Amino acid sequence: MSQEKGYGLLKGKKGIIFGALDERSIAWRIALACKREGADFVLTNAPVALRLGTLDALGEETNAPIIPCDVTDDEDVEALMKKTKEELGSIDFILHAVGMSPNVRKKKDYKELNYNWYKQTLDISAISLHRVLHHAEKTGVLNDGASVVALSYIGAQRIFSKYSDMNDAKALLESIARNYGSRLADRGIRVNTVSQAPTKTSAGSGIKGFDSMYTFAEKIAPLGNPSADECADYCVTLFSDLTRKVTMQNLYHDGGFVTSGISEEMIDGLVKLYADEE
Ligand SMILES: NC(=O)c1ccc[n+]([C@@H]2O[C@H](COP(=O)([O-])OP(=O)(O)OC[C@H]3O[C@@H](n4cnc5c(N)ncnc54)[C@H](O)[C@@H]3O)[C@@H](O)[C@H]2O)c1
Repeated sequence: MSQEKGYGLLKGKKGIIFGALDERSIAWRIALACKREGADFVLTNAPVALRLGTLDALGEETNAPIIPCDVTDDEDVEALMKKTKEELGSIDFILHAVGMSPNVRKKKDYKELNYNWYKQTLDISAISLHRVLHHAEKTGVLNDGASVVALSYIGAQRIFSKYSDMNDAKALLESIARNYGSRLADRGIRVNTVSQAPTKTSAGSGIKGFDSMYTFAEKIAPLGNPSADECADYCVTLFSDLTRKVTMQNLYHDGGFVTSGISEEMIDGLVKLYADEE
């Protein structure tokens, strides 16, 4: 769908968007889609990421205030919620699009993990969702009927060796979404994870072997890999009032990858490859 035209699905809604770093970030594409659909929001990222200055352009384009917040820091997260309340009043949606593994970045094998980095991976990429929900509720910034979406990856269920300790982080993230979702349901608040296919972003490209993961998924998924903009459209539906009874789910946005067995195209290629080798 074009960025210009929307359905007004988020008209009057307000939110917080975590994790937009540059134009390729899934959160960046989601911010544009939310704006197109009529939402207002605060953009936030770690102070070190904001120093790059790239987010300013998105802030201007979407007329969104930018508030720094390191998701591993309790005081930062609490302050973010309070400042958001001052800027926008109470909110209707939160996007958690935050992930980082020092072990993956520094190419540590899963059997040789640095445990301090392992803790950082889990803290940044998973426990942060708990922290965000805790402070959102405590500060009273979250409206009844709000919708919270965190981005996940199928490594939570299946082994993707190059994804290393991020597989564990995503499993924890999805568990926190279910557990918190059950506790916020009495206020009509939904908490879901969207399990997105490999997408070419800064975080994605930082994974050794990412290109092969991308191509493998592309060849297996009957609909092919969805882009960041397509992920954005899907997230809009989850923030909208059209999905009010969807909660505590991990929702695959992967072109059918998760339920596919083999792809004829890939098998034909492999058969040819082995035949050539013989
Ligand atoms: N790119 C993919 O292939 C893919 C696939 C499935 C899921 N995801 C998930 O989507 C989300 C967004 O990733 P992306 O691919 O758009 O890459 P990205 O690098 O653009 O986004 C990751 C963000 O996390 C932020 N971040 C890291 N540490 C932080 C901290 N301490 N405090 C606050 N923010 C911090 C970064 O600054 C960055 O903006 C992540 O959760 C990622 O795991 C990505």
